[in-house]
Amino acid sequence: MKKPYVSVEGIARRYGATTIFADAWFGIERGEFVCLVGHSGCGKTTILNILAGLEPPDDGVLIMDGQELSGPSLDRAVIFQSHALLPWLTAAENVAFAQGCKHPGWSRAQRMEAALAALQKVGLAQAGDKKPSELSGGMKQRVGIARALSLAPKMLLMDEPFSALDALTRGALQEEVARLVTETDQTAFMITHDVDEAILLADRILLMSNGPGARIAEVVVNTLPKPRTRATLHHMAGYHPLREHVLDFLITRSKAFRADAPPANWSPRAVPEVRL
Ligand SMILES: Nc1ncnc2c1ncn2[C@@H]1O[C@H](COP(=O)(O)OP(=O)(O)O)[C@@H](O)[C@H]1O
Ligand SMILES: [Mg+2]
Repeated sequence: MKKPYVSVEGIARRYGATTIFADAWFGIERGEFVCLVGHSGCGKTTILNILAGLEPPDDGVLIMDGQELSGPSLDRAVIFQSHALLPWLTAAENVAFAQGCKHPGWSRAQRMEAALAALQKVGLAQAGDKKPSELSGGMKQRVGIARALSLAPKMLLMDEPFSALDALTRGALQEEVARLVTETDQTAFMITHDVDEAILLADRILLMSNGPGARIAEVVVNTLPKPRTRATLHHMAGYHPLREHVLDFLITRSKAFRADAPPANWSPRAVPEVRL
C-alpha cells in the first residue's frame, strides 16, 4: 500500500510511568487539511511539536514525502497560539528573517520584497513597518500566517492559532487561512478546541480520547462540500449531524474510551473512520 504524504507511525509520549498518549498512527495526504481535536492535556501540542521536530517521540517514527523526519526544518512551518514574533523587528522584518533562513544567499532587498508580498496576501501591505507592539492581536497572528506561508512549507502546523482572538477576528482569519491553504494546495495540520473551526477547515478530523493513556479514537471525514464559509456553514446539509457527532465525542466518548479495553472495532492502526 502506498504511504500517505505524511505518515505518523506509532508515536507515543511518556513521563516516567505515565503514558500521556501512545500508538498514534495516522496519515496526511498531500494538500489535505487535518484537524486534531481533544480535551486539554491529552497530548495535542506534544503531537504537533513532534510533527514539527521540536521534540522527539518516545516511540514511533514520522515519515514525510518518503523521508524519516528528525529535528526541525523549514519544510514544516508552525503558527503558534501566541504569535511568536521577534518584538524588536518590524512585521516585514519578521517575515524577511524567515526568508533569510530559507534563502541564505538572498540580499536584504530580495528578502524584504518577498516579505512584503507575503504580508500583502494577508491584507497587511500597509503594516510592514510596524513593530509587533503596534499591531492588534489579529494583525500579529496575520504576520505569523504570512511568515509561515511565505516559506511554502511541505506541511503547515498550527496549534490553536486563533484561540486568543475575539470571535469576529477569529472568523475572518479562519476564512483567510481556508482561502490561502486552498489556493496553494497547502498540506496542513491544525489543533483546535473549536468544533466549528474544525468543520470549516478540515478535510478530516482526528478525535483524541482523554489522557493519560490517550489515543486517536476516531477519524471523522468531513463530507461537506467546499468552499465553506462561516456565514453558510450552519445552513449546509449534513452540518448539524457532523457537529453533534464531534460534540458527543468530546462530551462522552472521549472520557469513555479506554486504551486497555477499546471498542471492538478499534485498533491503533485501523482507527474507525466515520462518514456521516
Ligand atoms: N515534564 C512533564 N512531566 C510530566 N507531564 C508533562 C510534562 N510536560 C507535559 N506533561 C503533560 O503532558 C500532557 C500533554 O500536554 P500537551 O501536549 O500540552 O496537551 P494538550 O495540548 O492536548 O493540552 C499534559 O497532561 C501535561 O500535563
Ligand atoms: Mg495544547
